[in-house]
Amino acid sequence: MASAILSDSNTSYNYEIVRRFTLMTLFWGIVGMGMGVFLAAQLVWPELNFGLAWTSFGRLRPVHTNLVIFAFGGGALFATSFYVVQRTSRVRLISERLANFVFWGWQAIIVALVISYPLGYTTSKEYAEMEWPIALAVAVVWVAYAYLFFGTIARRTVKHIYVGNWFYGAFIVVTGMVHVINHISVPVSLMKSYSSYSGATDAMIQWWYGHSVVGFILSVGFLGMMYYFVPKQAERPIYSYRLSIIHFWAIITLYIWAGPHHLHYTALPDWAQSLGMAMSMILLAPSWGGMINGMMTLSGAWHKLRTDPILRFLVVSLAFYGMSTFEGPMMAIKTVNALSHYTDWTIGHVHAGALGWVAMISIGTLYHMIPKLYGREQMHSIGLINVHFWLATIGTVLYIASMWVNGITQGLMWRAINDDGTLTYSFVEALQASHPGYIVRLIGGATFASGMLLMAYNTWRTVRAGEQRVSAPIAAMA
Ligand code: HEM
Ligand code: HEM
Repeated sequence: MASAILSDSNTSYNYEIVRRFTLMTLFWGIVGMGMGVFLAAQLVWPELNFGLAWTSFGRLRPVHTNLVIFAFGGGALFATSFYVVQRTSRVRLISERLANFVFWGWQAIIVALVISYPLGYTTSKEYAEMEWPIALAVAVVWVAYAYLFFGTIARRTVKHIYVGNWFYGAFIVVTGMVHVINHISVPVSLMKSYSSYSGATDAMIQWWYGHSVVGFILSVGFLGMMYYFVPKQAERPIYSYRLSIIHFWAIITLYIWAGPHHLHYTALPDWAQSLGMAMSMILLAPSWGGMINGMMTLSGAWHKLRTDPILRFLVVSLAFYGMSTFEGPMMAIKTVNALSHYTDWTIGHVHAGALGWVAMISIGTLYHMIPKLYGREQMHSIGLINVHFWLATIGTVLYIASMWVNGITQGLMWRAINDDGTLTYSFVEALQASHPGYIVRLIGGATFASGMLLMAYNTWRTVRAGEQRVSAPIAAMA
């Protein structure tokens, strides 16, 4: 079996960085989702807050959101973008040192988040809670990442730039841009700063950022993943290359305008809310265009779904992507948002995207990549992948269905009014009505998370199954 001979050579791809990010994606996925399960349990049994500030729901919630978005989702995007950019450009990553810097820098940032949030250090801006020294570190690591990615593309030995790289590239550029602009602030001490913006302007910039996290990290980045790994696993070319180009330009043009739908009925000028609503509704078209392009790639290969659980993960993730990008534009309509906003419906929508799309496509992709990274024929157990698929699917359905029921119940109870104009229900009554839904969500979340443990075991057995083959020669097919 080939061993370390190829590792440091310019004739092979840098798989070491991909392997490291892959394993850390799994690790942080388990920790982040475990935290999600704990939060879900706190909403069933509030005693689990333990009466301590640092174990309270409010402090642990951003630990969950940041871990699953930046450590799990981000890790999957680092791993796959480095894998895809090398293979489709037929060239090794341009710098070993910079790759290591990005890896260690990112892990240090994640650890800093996990420590600082429970201690109460926060900007209080959702998904941008990190205080200024950490935000600064993110900017530095991100520039290094961009240099590595685009530098590798610049040195490619094939003429064209594969469409998956366009999506990864847009994710890198826009994430960097909105991160820097949203974090501009005035530090008053080592771990405290105040935003440079105020009032409605601050809110607008925050949700321009927040929606771009949804749009460019949780959607465009993962679409880059789709464009490489769905055709690979299905062993079919992408359904329409032309559609993929239209998809790309349409989605990056539209996403950046949709932020105001997070601020309906607030102090934001009404025209800005309506613009956000209109842009969100138009977004349905490119989102579904991309989803259909991925689905139709299976034309002539549908039979493979019967035997290939990895392909099943990928296809079901696309179905959830289609579902959440239908639901999103609908929730962006002001009259619908008047019912859904502040309710668990939003949480259900988030996890239809987060579990059904982001986590499922990442899981399928990692199962595709892991054997290749370690020079194995396939994962240790295909049966376990199958079990994982069902745990993930059932877990997601339980989670989102219970949140829909809760959300609509809450929305209707909050707005019910008696003839004399008083509220029909108190807040506590709506909370009591939500309790069964919280139990179902906990069961769904725990089911999903248990699948991740199976994946960790399967990966461990695959990695340990023999001597490690360190890298693949550049001549290997993209
Ligand atoms: C066409 C696509 C989409 C549109 C138009 C859209 C629209 C919306 C709307 C209207 C809300 C509720 C805002 C509120 O009432 O506060 C929302 C929340 C959210 N959506 Fe989507 N959505 C889309 C796709 C997705 C996808 C694919 C994900 C992936 C995970 C996602 C993640 C989120 C998150 C995390 C929130 C919660 C933000 C927060 O309040 O913290 N969305 N979205
Ligand atoms: C086992 C899996 C998971 C469980 C049990 C879980 C549970 C939870 C809970 C209990 C909350 C707080 C809800 C509330 O405030 O009422 C939450 C929020 C959130 N989770 Fe998860 N989660 C899981 C996986 C994920 C994944 C994989 C992602 C992203 C890729 C994600 C993204 C989010 C986001 C963005 C929010 C904030 C939503 C908002 O503010 O509207 N979660 N999660």
